[in-house]
Amino acid sequence: MTPHTSPDSTTWFEDNRKNWDDRAAVHRASGYGIPELIEDSEAIPSTLAPDVDRLGDLRGAAVIHLQCHLGTDTVGLSRLGASRVVGVDLSGASIAHAREIAEACAADIEYVEANVYDARSAVEGSFDLVYTSIGVLCWLPDIDAWARVVASLVSPGGRFFIRDDHPMFMAVGEDVSDGLRIDQPYFQLVSPLTWEDEDSYIEAAAEAPKIVHTRNHQWNHSLGEIVTALVSAGLVIDVLEEVPYSAWAPWPELMVEDEGRGYRLRDRPERLPLQFVIEAHRPE
Ligand SMILES: C[S@@+](CC[C@H](N)C(=O)[O-])C[C@H]1O[C@@H](n2cnc3c(N)ncnc32)[C@H](O)[C@@H]1O
Repeated sequence: MTPHTSPDSTTWFEDNRKNWDDRAAVHRASGYGIPELIEDSEAIPSTLAPDVDRLGDLRGAAVIHLQCHLGTDTVGLSRLGASRVVGVDLSGASIAHAREIAEACAADIEYVEANVYDARSAVEGSFDLVYTSIGVLCWLPDIDAWARVVASLVSPGGRFFIRDDHPMFMAVGEDVSDGLRIDQPYFQLVSPLTWEDEDSYIEAAAEAPKIVHTRNHQWNHSLGEIVTALVSAGLVIDVLEEVPYSAWAPWPELMVEDEGRGYRLRDRPERLPLQFVIEAHRPE
């Protein structure tokens, strides 16, 4: 499947773009850690902070952040010393906010409005680090095509890093009144799960605009599909870690927050991985 040439996928991406344009306005109006990032020139977003040690010294590195949304983590990557930082996102509204936020943070970042599947042609050069994180793969219909784009952006000897929601976490349904149940696909399907969401994953400020374009389309990808796609695209996997913490709490009644680590299941968190991390490199 080539997702951006099928008639269905044009509609899927268009619906998702409109939904993310609306969410961008809600997130911007609701804080999203942005005032703190602007006020403190050394602040690193809480979503990036757990990975600062793994990412290591980025001084002088060329870094691309795929699906960068408002660019909060992109600013963080810039603050880790990267010399060229590029952020890519499908949502024009996200990119517009990201540009304003980068300017307010005095961060020199190139932002590109593009579908991640078109990132190779939309961006020049290759990168020492290709970075993407938290809430990204569920918007993509074809994990193999995505992995080929990722690999094409990594310089020989360069690295790829992803932290995202674990596909087992994504397979559990929204209704947990009867406990955790596997209710949604674990494996990638051609057809998406289509949702109508009036809310996003953060609490909206009272003055925030409403989400008008509620329809959005999502896919799950098994851990095996993700790993195999990256290996088939030519990357060597160095780390695959499964994590019992999440950046968000879809089931507040079942979850607690641990300072600095995110949300975990209150009862026996060892039952379910909530995130995974993959570190990979492209051989010289
Ligand atoms: C959950 S957000 C990522 C959030 C980010 N980790 C953060 O901390 O703000 C997902 C982002 O993926 C973008 N997106 C969705 N589908 C995309 C696609 N096909 N190509 C590029 N970006 C896409 C959305 O516009 C949105 O900004």
